[in-house]
Amino acid sequence: MASPPSIGVIVASQRSPRVGLQIASFVLRTLQPCAAASGLHLQLIDLATWQLPLFDEPLIPSQVHSSTGYAHAHSRAWSAEVTAHAAFVFVTPQYNWGYPASVKNAIDYLFHEWAGKPTAVVSYGSRGGIKAAEQLRQVLLGVRMRVAETMPALAFPDGEVAARAFRGEALLLQGPDAIWKEERGEVKRAFEELMELLQPGEKVPHV
Ligand SMILES: Cc1cc2nc3c(=O)[nH]c(=O)nc-3n(C[C@H](O)[C@H](O)[C@H](O)COP(=O)(O)O)c2cc1C
Repeated sequence: MASPPSIGVIVASQRSPRVGLQIASFVLRTLQPCAAASGLHLQLIDLATWQLPLFDEPLIPSQVHSSTGYAHAHSRAWSAEVTAHAAFVFVTPQYNWGYPASVKNAIDYLFHEWAGKPTAVVSYGSRGGIKAAEQLRQVLLGVRMRVAETMPALAFPDGEVAARAFRGEALLLQGPDAIWKEERGEVKRAFEELMELLQPGEKVPHV
C-alpha cells in the first residue's frame, strides 16, 4: 500500500534555548486530527538538527534540476528531505520584525524542490509575528510556493510568558489552562487552505 502524502512541519528556530520545537509540536498536535481524517501524514522537520552551513553551493538552485547537481552532500540530503513532502507548514518566531536567518538559509539551498508546493505559515512572538510571516510569505512566493492566505500569529499572552519563551522554558500548551485555545481554530483554518491548495490542477503562480 502506498504511504500517505507527507506534510513537513518546519521548526524555523535554531536558537538554544528556544521554544520553537514545543510550539511546532503544538501546531502539529492541533493539525493531527484534520490531517489524519484527510489521509495525510505530518512530520516535524527541525532545522536545528539539520545544521545547514550558510549557503555554500556554487550554482543558483533554480538552475539545478536534479539533486546530483549539488556540490555538497548536505545539500543533496536537504533536497531529498524537501522532495519527500507534498506541502509544508513553517512555524517561525519573529526576530527583530523579521524571520530568523536559519529559515531563509534553508529555503535558499533549493528551488525546484519547493516550487508548486502548498504551504502555510504560523508565526509566534511577543506580539505574534505577522511582520515575520509577511516577509516569509514573499520569500515562499519567490520559490514559487502556493501560500495559504490565513497566517496565524501566536502572541505570548503576557510578559511573563514572553520571558519564559525567551529562556526556552516549557509553555502551557496543553490542558484546561493552556494558552492559544482560541488561536487553534485559525491554525486549523490555515491548514484547511493548504489542503485545498493540494488539490490537483492548480497553477503555479508566476511572481
Ligand atoms: C534576536 C531576537 C529578536 C526578537 N525580536 C522580536 C520581535 O521583533 N518581535 C517579537 O514579538 N518578539 C521578538 N523576540 C522574542 C521572541 O519571539 C521570543 O524570544 C521567542 O521565544 C523566540 O522563539 P524561539 O525561542 O523559538 O527562538 C526576539 C527574540 C530574539 C532572540
